Amino acid sequence: MEFNDVIRERFSVRQFDGRPIEEEKLHAILEAGRVAPTARNLQPWRVNVIRSAEGLEKIRSLSRCTFGAPVVLLFTYDENEQWRSPLEEGFTSGHEDVSIAATHMMLAAWNEGIGSCWVNLFPNSATCEAFGLPKSEKAVLLMPIGYPAANARPAPLHEESKELGELVREL
Ligand SMILES: Cc1cc2nc3c(=O)[nH]c(=O)nc-3n(C[C@H](O)[C@H](O)[C@H](O)COP(=O)(O)O)c2cc1C
Repeated sequence: MEFNDVIRERFSVRQFDGRPIEEEKLHAILEAGRVAPTARNLQPWRVNVIRSAEGLEKIRSLSRCTFGAPVVLLFTYDENEQWRSPLEEGFTSGHEDVSIAATHMMLAAWNEGIGSCWVNLFPNSATCEAFGLPKSEKAVLLMPIGYPAANARPAPLHEESKELGELVREL
């Protein structure tokens, strides 16, 4: 797809048709995350692919926002691997790094005809514990992915984009 079509036509998909995602498509999606920029190229993010029956049952019990997707990606970062600003205490890159990788994957998925939804509505720490992730890893988002159902449409919120003039300032 044309890059502009990918970014303009993508919408959050919350209805999936149940078809599994082919290995090569999943690989292309994950690979798009691998090449994402991170602070000092430290790459503190991890993506956990949840697609076993047991894993899906667990994640579905933790969040009502997995929408029956055949694959759920759980994005984390390791707080010990992230960049820390030497200029100001408390400014770290983990959330940004993981978000850029996730955005790459979201757009790569759309490019493959696969829908996704960014999900923050899940218990972050309890999810890490449920999957036995290391204590130093912080969960940032879930991303259910799959082929959109035939009736999948953008939600009304999708249309509520602010005008550029409200978002951009000249200083
Ligand atoms: C940081 C973030 C958190 C979100 N959390 C959720 C969520 O928990 N559940 C959900 O259904 N959608 C969630 N969304 C999807 C947004 O509601 C959606 O992106 C927004 O309404 C714009 O619609 P669009 O993605 O179709 O353009 C989230 C999106 C972002 C960027």
